[in-house]
Amino acid sequence: MTRTRTIRGALVLGGLALGGLMLVPGMAAAQDEATPTYTKDVAPIFRAKCENCHRPGYIAPMSLQTYADSRPWARSIRNRVETRQMPPWHIDKSVGIQAFENDRSLTQAEIDTIVRWVDAGAPQGDLADLPPPAVFADDDVWNYAGLFGGPPDLILYSTPYTMPAVAQDAWWKPEVPTGLTEDRWIRAIEIRPSTVAGRRITHHALARLQQEEDPEDLGAASEVGPGILMEWAVGKQGEIMREGSGKLIKAGSSIVWDIHYSAVGEEITDTAELGLYLYPKGQEPKHRQVLSAWSTIEGGSDHLSIPPNAVTTTENFHVLKENGRIENYQPHMHLRGKGMQMTAILPDGSKQVLSRVSDFNFNWHNSYVYADHAAPLLPKGTVIALKSWYDNTSANRANPDPNQWVGYGDRTVDEMGHAWVNVTYMDDEDFAAAVAEREAVLTDDE
Ligand code: HEC
Repeated sequence: MTRTRTIRGALVLGGLALGGLMLVPGMAAAQDEATPTYTKDVAPIFRAKCENCHRPGYIAPMSLQTYADSRPWARSIRNRVETRQMPPWHIDKSVGIQAFENDRSLTQAEIDTIVRWVDAGAPQGDLADLPPPAVFADDDVWNYAGLFGGPPDLILYSTPYTMPAVAQDAWWKPEVPTGLTEDRWIRAIEIRPSTVAGRRITHHALARLQQEEDPEDLGAASEVGPGILMEWAVGKQGEIMREGSGKLIKAGSSIVWDIHYSAVGEEITDTAELGLYLYPKGQEPKHRQVLSAWSTIEGGSDHLSIPPNAVTTTENFHVLKENGRIENYQPHMHLRGKGMQMTAILPDGSKQVLSRVSDFNFNWHNSYVYADHAAPLLPKGTVIALKSWYDNTSANRANPDPNQWVGYGDRTVDEMGHAWVNVTYMDDEDFAAAVAEREAVLTDDE
């Protein structure tokens, strides 16, 4: 009985998808009424969920590695974790799939612990309770070096950028050729700033693959066009393709970078590095993963019209021409973007909300990667409905000017609306096998 409940928990809440992360002792029921302390209850949470960014020299504005570092921020911490703005993970927990490979959010129990700790005056507690310091991988070593036996097969660099000490945020978009003279298949991707100083200014880095595509090859993914986005950085280290699938990178291709830099009071020059692990030649994966930019704007970009002082929604539909597995969800909007939902309308007419982000934040381009057992398997003919909400009122704190009409455009003060979604397309036989395998896994567990 208990077991079944745990398994349901995994499916519905995604609790078990966090297998690799630390369990927090403070969550035990017996502890409920005791006042949480930093050393015993809070430090383990910060170690596991915050320090990756909140340590000296990294992207976050302050360190949360010690009691002395954390104490002055107690009120702000309470506010940010309670509203689920920190850690940055903006998936709506009340609807849709909740099992993700890269979930860095806090559990409700962790939030409650932090809130009770702050409300109790943020006490330090007994030093003997302090957990060992978190161990972070050496910055020079690629994350997957251990897994694949060395550095990436191909490393590409963005053109250097110098961020002045004081400046507006910058979006740096150089195009850099890959130098490939033959087509290759990617099995894993990592992106990182080149230097430790660079980590402080690099808010996120997107690398888009630009290549000529034969529409024949793309088949079901013909909507994709040549621009295929690959990754983003900061706090999330990389992406390994699911078994049997890969991304095709072609001879003559190039990488178009989109790097968001923030000034930190000191002039810093940096590049970003894209590391690609390739399948050995002749060992092609069976399935090609392609990334779609599915627009949420009915009628196309020109039709986006956001009146001043209003909340506007747009919706658009995309038909899966082949069976597919949806690998991830990454909403893209700008400053008026408030929420985006992806719904599957199955051929039998039933509807399933796959994911919704209801507290979109332009600072954070999170890609929500579904866990193996949760990545939706959708038959051909499924309609993907994508809906965006834009809040062009003064209630939206990110809004630079609620009195402006806003249309589509590249600048941050213009708007966009699309979801970056990786889809692995499959023929009927492979799809039936994938569905059967999924059912077997889920039944086994019960
Ligand atoms: C992926 C990196 C990352 C993780 C993980 C993360 N933060 Fe942050 N945090 C940032 C960045 C960057 C900022 C500043 C920009 C922003 O507010 O979005 C920030 C801002 C904050 C602020 C606001 C500081 C201020 O100026 O008032 C608080 C508080 C905070 N984080 C607490 C936390 C806590 C607590 C955790 C863990 C439970 C956490 N963060 C996890 C990157 C991160």
